[in-house]
Amino acid sequence: MTQVIKSIQNRDQDVLMAIRELYLYGEKFELDPCYSSGKFYEGIEPPNITMDKEPANYKIIKNDIMDGIPCKDSSITSIVFDPPFMFGTHGQTKNNIMTKRFTMFDSWEQLEQMYKKALSEFYRILVKGGIVAFKCQDYTDSRTTLTHCFVHNWAIENGFKIEDLFIMVFSGVRIWNSNLTQRHARKYHSYWIVLRK
Ligand SMILES: C[S@@+](CC[C@H](N)C(=O)[O-])C[C@H]1O[C@@H](n2cnc3c(N)ncnc32)[C@H](O)[C@@H]1O
Repeated sequence: MTQVIKSIQNRDQDVLMAIRELYLYGEKFELDPCYSSGKFYEGIEPPNITMDKEPANYKIIKNDIMDGIPCKDSSITSIVFDPPFMFGTHGQTKNNIMTKRFTMFDSWEQLEQMYKKALSEFYRILVKGGIVAFKCQDYTDSRTTLTHCFVHNWAIENGFKIEDLFIMVFSGVRIWNSNLTQRHARKYHSYWIVLRK
């Protein structure tokens, strides 16, 4: 029997492969504008076009999404998007390992501007019917922000149709400060929202 594709996965690679199978006829993604070190693609083919604001090597195109994406209108079939998700540089966040590696936004307003700019650029460069796989995570600092709900709404405002939602449950261990009193659930999951132009 063919294996069913579930909405919950434990690895980003498995989510990407599921999206490829369901929405891209098994083909690889075409563009990743926040490629970083390409950890996602260990064991699977990377996209044809890779970009980052701070490229890790010469093969990655240096580009800041806030300046637009250097692709023609209606020229791209599929996009993987994994932007930073943390915001507000204060308290323990300054020392967080993931913060150093992936950078974070100074404020929620900065995150909102970047996500909205990215969504409008994606809409411009995608062919009709093109797909975005948008990874987002909710964020708890002193309070919780359900970022994925905002992404959902901003995507619709930009004209996208919501095709699907995957939840990636992190099964490993994360370091935490045992001296702090826990006030909110520790986040062990992220979302992958699938959008269609
Ligand atoms: C969460 S990491 C991506 C990790 C990647 N998926 C991987 O597998 O290695 C986010 C990346 O977005 C990049 N980035 C942040 N702001 C950006 C912007 N305005 N334009 C382009 N890239 C940006 C950062 O440099 C960082 O490499």
